[in-house]
Amino acid sequence: MQIIREVAALRRAVAALRDAGGPVALVPTMGALHAGHMALVAEALRHAPSVVASIFVNPMQFGAGEDLATYPRREAEDAAMLEEAGCALLWAPGGEAMYPAGFATTVSVAGVSEGLCGAARPGHFNGVATVVAKLLNQVRPDVALFGEKDYQQLAVIRRMVADLDLAVEIIGVPTVREADGLALSSRNLYLSAGEREAARALPAALAEAAAAIAAGGAVGRALGTATAHLAAAGFDPIDYVELRDAETLAPVDRLARPARLLAAARMGRTRLIDNVPVVPPAGAG
Ligand code: PAF
Repeated sequence: MQIIREVAALRRAVAALRDAGGPVALVPTMGALHAGHMALVAEALRHAPSVVASIFVNPMQFGAGEDLATYPRREAEDAAMLEEAGCALLWAPGGEAMYPAGFATTVSVAGVSEGLCGAARPGHFNGVATVVAKLLNQVRPDVALFGEKDYQQLAVIRRMVADLDLAVEIIGVPTVREADGLALSSRNLYLSAGEREAARALPAALAEAAAAIAAGGAVGRALGTATAHLAAAGFDPIDYVELRDAETLAPVDRLARPARLLAAARMGRTRLIDNVPVVPPAGAG
Protein backbone atom coordinates (compact mmCIF):
# COMPACT_ATOMS: atom_id res chain seq x y z
CA MET A 1 0.00 0.00 0.00
CA GLN A 2 1.35 3.39 -1.00
CA ILE A 3 1.30 6.22 1.53
CA ILE A 4 1.00 9.61 -0.15
CA ARG A 5 1.10 13.08 1.41
CA GLU A 6 1.06 15.55 -1.52
CA VAL A 7 -1.84 16.28 -3.87
CA ALA A 8 0.15 16.06 -7.13
CA ALA A 9 1.52 12.60 -6.20
CA LEU A 10 -1.98 11.53 -5.14
CA ARG A 11 -3.43 12.50 -8.54
CA ARG A 12 -0.75 10.48 -10.36
CA ALA A 13 -1.26 7.44 -8.11
CA VAL A 14 -5.06 7.48 -8.44
CA ALA A 15 -4.76 7.81 -12.24
CA ALA A 16 -2.49 4.75 -12.25
CA LEU A 17 -4.99 2.78 -10.12
CA ARG A 18 -7.77 3.76 -12.49
CA ASP A 19 -5.74 2.71 -15.55
CA ALA A 20 -4.88 -0.60 -13.94
CA GLY A 21 -8.21 -1.57 -12.45
CA GLY A 22 -11.23 0.65 -13.12
CA PRO A 23 -13.37 2.25 -10.40
CA VAL A 24 -11.86 3.76 -7.28
CA ALA A 25 -13.52 3.95 -3.83
CA LEU A 26 -12.65 6.41 -1.08
CA VAL A 27 -12.97 5.78 2.66
CA PRO A 28 -12.36 9.11 4.44
CA THR A 29 -11.30 8.81 8.11
CA MET A 30 -9.58 10.71 10.89
CA GLY A 31 -7.57 7.60 11.83
CA ALA A 32 -7.55 5.68 15.15
CA LEU A 33 -9.18 2.97 13.09
CA HIS A 34 -11.47 0.29 14.48
CA ALA A 35 -13.76 -2.41 13.13
CA GLY A 36 -16.29 0.22 12.04
CA HIS A 37 -13.73 1.72 9.64
CA MET A 38 -12.75 -1.75 8.47
CA ALA A 39 -16.42 -2.41 7.60
CA LEU A 40 -16.25 0.70 5.38
CA VAL A 41 -13.15 -0.69 3.64
CA ALA A 42 -14.76 -4.13 3.20
CA GLU A 43 -17.87 -2.54 1.70
CA ALA A 44 -15.69 -0.30 -0.49
CA LEU A 45 -13.98 -3.37 -1.93
CA ARG A 46 -17.41 -4.69 -2.97
CA HIS A 47 -17.87 -1.55 -5.10
CA ALA A 48 -14.40 -0.98 -6.53
CA PRO A 49 -11.18 -2.96 -7.02
CA SER A 50 -9.05 -0.06 -5.78
CA VAL A 51 -9.73 1.46 -2.37
CA VAL A 52 -8.12 4.69 -1.20
CA ALA A 53 -8.39 5.46 2.52
CA SER A 54 -7.63 8.90 3.86
CA ILE A 55 -6.44 9.85 7.33
CA PHE A 56 -6.60 13.51 8.24
CA VAL A 57 -7.52 14.88 11.67
CA ASN A 58 -9.34 17.91 10.34
CA PRO A 59 -8.83 20.96 12.57
CA MET A 60 -11.66 22.80 10.81
CA GLN A 61 -14.33 20.49 12.25
CA PHE A 62 -13.21 20.84 15.89
CA GLY A 63 -14.55 23.71 17.98
CA ALA A 64 -12.66 25.68 20.62
CA GLY A 65 -12.28 23.53 23.73
CA GLU A 66 -12.91 20.26 21.82
CA ASP A 67 -10.48 17.33 21.60
CA LEU A 68 -8.35 18.28 18.55
CA ALA A 69 -5.10 18.15 20.55
CA THR A 70 -5.87 14.83 22.23
CA TYR A 71 -7.63 13.09 19.32
CA PRO A 72 -5.85 9.71 19.01
CA ARG A 73 -3.20 9.65 16.29
CA ARG A 74 -1.54 6.33 15.41
CA GLU A 75 -0.81 6.29 11.72
CA ALA A 76 1.56 3.31 11.70
CA GLU A 77 -1.04 0.97 13.26
CA ASP A 78 -3.76 2.41 11.03
CA ALA A 79 -1.64 1.90 7.91
CA ALA A 80 -0.99 -1.74 8.85
CA MET A 81 -4.73 -2.35 9.30
CA LEU A 82 -5.57 -0.71 5.97
CA GLU A 83 -2.91 -2.67 4.11
CA GLU A 84 -4.12 -5.92 5.67
CA ALA A 85 -7.70 -5.05 4.65
CA GLY A 86 -6.67 -4.58 1.01
CA CYS A 87 -6.43 -0.81 0.58
CA ALA A 88 -4.31 0.24 -2.38
CA LEU A 89 -3.39 3.70 -1.16
CA LEU A 90 -3.36 5.76 2.01
CA TRP A 91 -3.85 9.48 1.48
CA ALA A 92 -2.39 11.10 4.59
CA PRO A 93 -1.87 14.80 3.88
CA GLY A 94 -0.27 17.12 6.41
CA GLY A 95 -2.03 20.33 7.46
CA GLU A 96 -0.16 22.38 4.82
CA ALA A 97 -1.20 20.08 1.98
CA MET A 98 -4.85 20.30 3.03
CA TYR A 99 -5.02 23.96 4.07
CA PRO A 100 -2.13 25.83 2.43
CA ALA A 101 -1.35 29.40 3.45
CA GLY A 102 -4.11 31.69 2.21
CA PHE A 103 -6.84 29.02 2.32
CA ALA A 104 -10.11 30.97 2.57
CA THR A 105 -13.02 28.78 1.46
CA THR A 106 -15.80 27.24 3.55
CA VAL A 107 -18.47 24.87 2.28
CA SER A 108 -21.68 25.37 4.24
CA VAL A 109 -24.75 23.14 3.86
CA ALA A 110 -27.96 24.72 5.18
CA GLY A 111 -30.91 22.74 6.54
CA VAL A 112 -29.57 19.29 7.42
CA SER A 113 -26.57 20.87 9.18
CA GLU A 114 -28.83 22.74 11.59
CA GLY A 115 -30.00 21.38 14.93
CA LEU A 116 -28.77 18.13 16.54
CA CYS A 117 -24.93 18.14 16.46
CA GLY A 118 -25.04 21.34 14.39
CA ALA A 119 -26.55 23.13 17.38
CA ALA A 120 -24.25 21.53 19.95
CA ARG A 121 -21.10 22.00 17.83
CA PRO A 122 -21.40 25.30 15.92
CA GLY A 123 -19.29 25.28 12.74
CA HIS A 124 -18.62 21.55 12.93
CA PHE A 125 -20.48 20.64 9.74
CA ASN A 126 -18.88 23.51 7.81
CA GLY A 127 -15.56 21.90 8.67
CA VAL A 128 -16.78 18.45 7.68
CA ALA A 129 -18.34 19.63 4.39
CA THR A 130 -15.24 21.63 3.48
CA VAL A 131 -12.77 18.81 4.09
CA VAL A 132 -14.99 16.18 2.46
CA ALA A 133 -15.46 18.40 -0.60
CA LYS A 134 -11.67 18.68 -0.78
CA LEU A 135 -11.09 14.95 -0.26
CA LEU A 136 -13.63 14.11 -2.98
CA ASN A 137 -11.97 16.56 -5.34
CA GLN A 138 -8.45 15.41 -4.49
CA VAL A 139 -9.13 11.69 -4.97
CA ARG A 140 -12.07 11.95 -7.43
CA PRO A 141 -13.42 8.53 -6.49
CA ASP A 142 -16.38 6.80 -8.12
CA VAL A 143 -17.84 5.94 -4.72
CA ALA A 144 -17.18 7.19 -1.20
CA LEU A 145 -18.27 5.44 1.98
CA PHE A 146 -19.30 6.90 5.32
CA GLY A 147 -20.62 5.29 8.51
CA GLU A 148 -24.27 5.67 9.51
CA LYS A 149 -23.07 6.23 13.06
CA ASP A 150 -22.47 9.86 12.04
CA TYR A 151 -25.94 10.00 10.55
CA GLN A 152 -26.25 13.79 10.35
CA GLN A 153 -22.79 13.97 8.77
CA LEU A 154 -23.91 11.45 6.14
CA ALA A 155 -27.02 13.56 5.42
CA VAL A 156 -24.88 16.72 5.10
CA ILE A 157 -22.49 14.98 2.69
CA ARG A 158 -25.33 13.56 0.57
CA ARG A 159 -26.90 17.05 0.35
CA MET A 160 -23.58 18.66 -0.58
CA VAL A 161 -22.82 16.07 -3.27
CA ALA A 162 -26.29 16.48 -4.80
CA ASP A 163 -26.21 20.28 -4.62
CA LEU A 164 -22.71 20.61 -6.11
CA ASP A 165 -23.29 17.93 -8.82
CA LEU A 166 -20.25 16.02 -7.59
CA ALA A 167 -19.75 12.90 -9.70
CA VAL A 168 -19.51 10.42 -6.85
CA GLU A 169 -21.89 7.90 -5.33
CA ILE A 170 -22.18 8.22 -1.53
CA ILE A 171 -22.75 4.96 0.31
CA GLY A 172 -23.81 4.78 3.96
CA VAL A 173 -22.64 1.74 5.92
CA PRO A 174 -24.50 0.47 9.02
CA THR A 175 -22.99 1.11 12.44
CA VAL A 176 -20.73 -1.58 13.90
CA ARG A 177 -21.40 -2.22 17.60
CA GLU A 178 -19.74 -3.88 20.57
CA ALA A 179 -21.45 -6.96 22.03
CA ASP A 180 -23.41 -4.78 24.49
CA GLY A 181 -24.59 -2.47 21.72
CA LEU A 182 -22.19 0.47 22.13
CA ALA A 183 -21.41 1.93 18.71
CA LEU A 184 -17.71 1.72 17.82
CA SER A 185 -16.04 5.13 17.88
CA SER A 186 -12.44 6.31 18.08
CA ARG A 187 -13.58 8.43 21.05
CA ASN A 188 -14.57 5.30 23.05
CA LEU A 189 -10.84 5.16 23.87
CA TYR A 190 -11.39 8.11 26.22
CA LEU A 191 -13.88 6.21 28.44
CA SER A 192 -12.73 4.88 31.82
CA ALA A 193 -13.80 1.30 32.67
CA GLY A 194 -16.72 2.59 34.74
CA GLU A 195 -17.81 5.05 32.04
CA ARG A 196 -17.55 2.33 29.40
CA GLU A 197 -19.87 0.12 31.45
CA ALA A 198 -22.38 2.98 31.95
CA ALA A 199 -22.21 3.96 28.25
CA ARG A 200 -24.15 0.83 27.27
CA ALA A 201 -27.25 2.75 28.43
CA LEU A 202 -27.07 4.85 25.24
CA PRO A 203 -27.81 2.10 22.69
CA ALA A 204 -30.19 0.45 25.17
CA ALA A 205 -32.24 3.65 25.63
CA LEU A 206 -32.38 4.21 21.87
CA ALA A 207 -33.42 0.61 21.16
CA GLU A 208 -36.17 0.77 23.77
CA ALA A 209 -37.52 4.11 22.51
CA ALA A 210 -37.34 3.01 18.87
CA ALA A 211 -39.31 -0.15 19.66
CA ALA A 212 -41.93 1.84 21.60
CA ILE A 213 -42.38 4.36 18.78
CA ALA A 214 -42.48 1.67 16.07
CA ALA A 215 -45.18 -0.09 18.11
CA GLY A 216 -47.33 3.06 18.03
CA GLY A 217 -46.25 4.66 21.32
CA ALA A 218 -46.29 8.44 21.67
CA VAL A 219 -43.05 9.98 20.38
CA GLY A 220 -42.71 12.59 23.14
CA ARG A 221 -43.16 10.01 25.86
CA ALA A 222 -40.59 7.61 24.34
CA LEU A 223 -38.05 10.43 23.98
CA GLY A 224 -38.67 11.50 27.59
CA THR A 225 -38.17 7.96 28.87
CA ALA A 226 -34.94 7.58 26.89
CA THR A 227 -33.65 10.91 28.22
CA ALA A 228 -34.44 9.83 31.80
CA HIS A 229 -32.58 6.53 31.28
CA LEU A 230 -29.52 8.37 29.99
CA ALA A 231 -29.56 10.78 32.94
CA ALA A 232 -29.91 7.87 35.39
CA ALA A 233 -26.89 6.17 33.78
CA GLY A 234 -24.78 9.30 34.38
CA PHE A 235 -24.87 11.02 30.98
CA ASP A 236 -24.55 14.77 31.54
CA PRO A 237 -25.28 16.92 29.67
CA ILE A 238 -27.66 15.23 27.25
CA ASP A 239 -27.40 17.36 24.09
CA TYR A 240 -30.43 15.81 22.41
CA VAL A 241 -32.63 12.77 22.00
CA GLU A 242 -34.73 13.41 18.90
CA LEU A 243 -36.78 11.68 16.23
CA ARG A 244 -36.09 13.02 12.74
CA ASP A 245 -37.11 12.15 9.20
CA ALA A 246 -34.58 9.60 7.91
CA GLU A 247 -33.93 11.58 4.73
CA THR A 248 -34.51 15.28 5.41
CA LEU A 249 -33.79 15.22 9.17
CA ALA A 250 -36.93 17.33 9.72
CA PRO A 251 -38.40 16.84 13.22
CA VAL A 252 -41.00 14.05 13.46
CA ASP A 253 -43.73 13.94 16.10
CA ARG A 254 -45.78 11.17 14.53
CA LEU A 255 -44.24 8.18 12.78
CA ALA A 256 -45.53 7.98 9.20
CA ARG A 257 -42.32 7.56 7.16
CA PRO A 258 -38.95 5.99 7.89
CA ALA A 259 -37.38 8.00 10.69
CA ARG A 260 -34.17 8.06 12.68
CA LEU A 261 -33.86 8.32 16.42
CA LEU A 262 -30.68 10.22 17.27
CA ALA A 263 -28.96 11.08 20.53
CA ALA A 264 -25.82 12.81 21.75
CA ALA A 265 -24.73 12.97 25.36
CA ARG A 266 -21.57 13.30 27.40
CA MET A 267 -20.21 10.53 29.62
CA GLY A 268 -17.46 12.12 31.71
CA ARG A 269 -15.32 14.04 29.21
CA THR A 270 -16.45 11.92 26.25
CA ARG A 271 -19.24 13.05 23.95
CA LEU A 272 -20.98 10.01 22.47
CA ILE A 273 -23.46 9.98 19.59
CA ASP A 274 -25.67 7.19 18.30
CA ASN A 275 -28.76 6.65 16.19
CA VAL A 276 -31.10 3.86 15.12
CA PRO A 277 -33.72 3.51 12.38
CA VAL A 278 -37.41 3.66 13.29
CA VAL A 279 -39.69 2.29 10.60
CA PRO A 280 -43.50 2.56 10.69
CA PRO A 281 -45.33 -0.78 10.61
CA ALA A 282 -46.59 -1.77 7.14
CA GLY A 283 -49.89 -0.04 6.41
CA ALA A 284 -49.28 2.81 8.87
CA GLY A 285 -49.27 6.42 7.74
O1 PAF B 1 -16.25 10.83 10.10
C1 PAF B 1 -15.07 11.23 10.10
O2 PAF B 1 -14.13 10.51 10.46
C2 PAF B 1 -14.77 12.66 9.64
O3 PAF B 1 -15.78 13.53 10.02
C3 PAF B 1 -14.50 12.76 8.13
C4 PAF B 1 -15.71 12.36 7.30
C5 PAF B 1 -13.32 11.87 7.76
C6 PAF B 1 -14.16 14.21 7.76
O4 PAF B 1 -13.05 14.66 8.47
